Amino acid sequence: MAFPEHRPRRLRRTPALRALARETRLHPGDLIDALFVVEGSGVREPIASMPGVLRLSVDQLADEAKRCHDLGLGGVVLFGIPLHKDALGTSGYDPEGVVARAIRAMKRAAPDFVVIADICLCEYTDHGHCGVYENGAVLNDETLPLLARAAVVAAEAGADVVAPSDMMDGRVAAIRSALDEARLFETPILSYAAKYASAFYGPFREAAESAPKSGDRRGYQMDAGNGREALREIATDIEEGADMVMVKPAMPCLDVISQARARFEVPLFAYQVSGEYSMLQAAIERGWLEAPRVVDESLLAIRRAGADRIVSYFAKDFARRYRG
Ligand code: PBG
Repeated sequence: MAFPEHRPRRLRRTPALRALARETRLHPGDLIDALFVVEGSGVREPIASMPGVLRLSVDQLADEAKRCHDLGLGGVVLFGIPLHKDALGTSGYDPEGVVARAIRAMKRAAPDFVVIADICLCEYTDHGHCGVYENGAVLNDETLPLLARAAVVAAEAGADVVAPSDMMDGRVAAIRSALDEARLFETPILSYAAKYASAFYGPFREAAESAPKSGDRRGYQMDAGNGREALREIATDIEEGADMVMVKPAMPCLDVISQARARFEVPLFAYQVSGEYSMLQAAIERGWLEAPRVVDESLLAIRRAGADRIVSYFAKDFARRYRG
């Protein structure tokens, strides 16, 4: 059917008709906020590179969990920023470390709200790499037991989900078997399966003080030129026991999200990372882009590409404006 019988504008005439015909919708429950926890109490520290995002101490985080729950968000993913960093990232798997205490406080404040623990070493190591670092290289197999310990500690503290973001080979299997050995059979793994070595993580590294002191992450995170490899990474992680998978970053990877959606059945997450957030915020501040429309469009595009759930620093902003 062609013009004049076919007139696509018929379905665009009024807001109500557009809503009726809309294929993709976004609900606060589709969104996961990302939170940064620091030592101390009463701390609400702005992050210069991420306007509107704060580093919070454990006490403040408990209230934040309640707020996020009341807003109807799907959950939060938690990043720890410890005072003490060392070569092996021991604060990352210390049962009394800042992350474990934060998880306990959040679950106490909002028991029904989903807390996802990011599992990686880069926020906890003094060299800033995601694993054991020797002679300019991150050692894969030596890193696995440390990640597994971090996952067990987070799950024992009450994390509903553990989410490895380190990109070591074999880490999902290592974490699954360590969880099972600790009888944490029911703790699901959300794997950052397709995580690119992206320049869009820049603001996060300032927020988490986790930039590598030397070198970069291209020896373990994915090359931006590769799409098919992302599908292999996801397939491998599912075989190793991942219950859910994530693609990261989001807007630069809509092709990967769309292909992963078509190929895999597990819940698919995408991470709208710090650089995507800050880029939009900077343009909004200058009046170059119009909020909140551009925010909603960015989220909807990621959803339309096929992501079931989106980790986003805009999660609360979207939920506050949501009117059903
Ligand atoms: C930890 C981790 C990073 C991000 C999430 N988990 C940083 C990195 O890999 O350098 C980035 C998140 C963001 O940019 O918002 N490995």
